Amino acid sequence: MSPAPRRVLIDTDTAGDDAQALLLAATSDRIDIEGVTIAAGNVEFDRQVENAKYTLDLVDNETTVYEGARSPLLKDHEFAEQIHGEGGLGGDLFPETGIESGEQYGVDYIVETVRANPGEITLVCLAPLTNVALALKKEPALNDLVDEVYVMGGNVHWPGNDTATAEFNFWVDPDAAKIVLEHMDVTLFDWGLSVRDTAFESAFFSMLRAEDDSALADFYLECTKVGRAYNREHRGGERTVQPDSSVVAALIEPDLVEETSHSYVTVDEREGITRGHTVVDTGEWDLGEPRTRVVESLDSDLFERMMRSLLLHGTPDDVL
Ligand code: RIB
Ligand code: CA
Repeated sequence: MSPAPRRVLIDTDTAGDDAQALLLAATSDRIDIEGVTIAAGNVEFDRQVENAKYTLDLVDNETTVYEGARSPLLKDHEFAEQIHGEGGLGGDLFPETGIESGEQYGVDYIVETVRANPGEITLVCLAPLTNVALALKKEPALNDLVDEVYVMGGNVHWPGNDTATAEFNFWVDPDAAKIVLEHMDVTLFDWGLSVRDTAFESAFFSMLRAEDDSALADFYLECTKVGRAYNREHRGGERTVQPDSSVVAALIEPDLVEETSHSYVTVDEREGITRGHTVVDTGEWDLGEPRTRVVESLDSDLFERMMRSLLLHGTPDDVL
């Protein structure tokens, strides 16, 4: 008897990597997506909304998309179109699905969903944490009402990807990241983990190109083309990392997670060169309760097999 699917609420700033994460969740029998909420992040907000709807529709998933915060709590931010392309899906895809958004404000939807299902819902946070911080302000017991909180963000003992010191999600809304990390029990998938254990190289892309009848493989190549070109130019080779997908993959298959550790983790919310920097105390400095579970390593081979199965066969479950 297989265990009941994990019920998730996915908060996203849907660009290409978020889209792959949505596809994993939407095509695995081990996941039930309760709802999707959109936060300000990668690209223009309404593009993110459409990208999420388009992606779910690609696999006939009818999960409702709810619109959340259109800007970070306090800071101004820039988009990441240099990685994701204009519009967020590689620069040539600008879907207009005509699908209605959910009526509720995304933050209210998060609060009311976890209140109605205490202990049942896992928050999967793939965007700047604005919506989650606002939900926590509205419902101070949020941490007790959720099952778990999985977050893609930050850079634990690793260089930043948006600035020298910060990862994009935490740079966009450092105030929200600080609030969530200091008040919730987060399982953290940081940028360093993504670089170490979720990178795909040219052979992966060639394999996908050889499959000329897979819509999801074509979509992946379309979504990643700007990032791959950026990495060819700036980082020495055509590769992509899959930060958001690794979070969902770990929820589908917990054995993907190899090593974890608990630390006190917070974020520098001040403007300046260290805005959004992830501050980690493993216990040496007694900065606070080591409540954040930091994922240190993933089974990168299993992850690649899951992604290959998704893109070529339409679900990651075939390799599990
Ligand atoms: O730094 C990577 C993260 O920022 C990913 O979630 C990407 O989609 C962007 O939101
Ligand atoms: Ca994201």
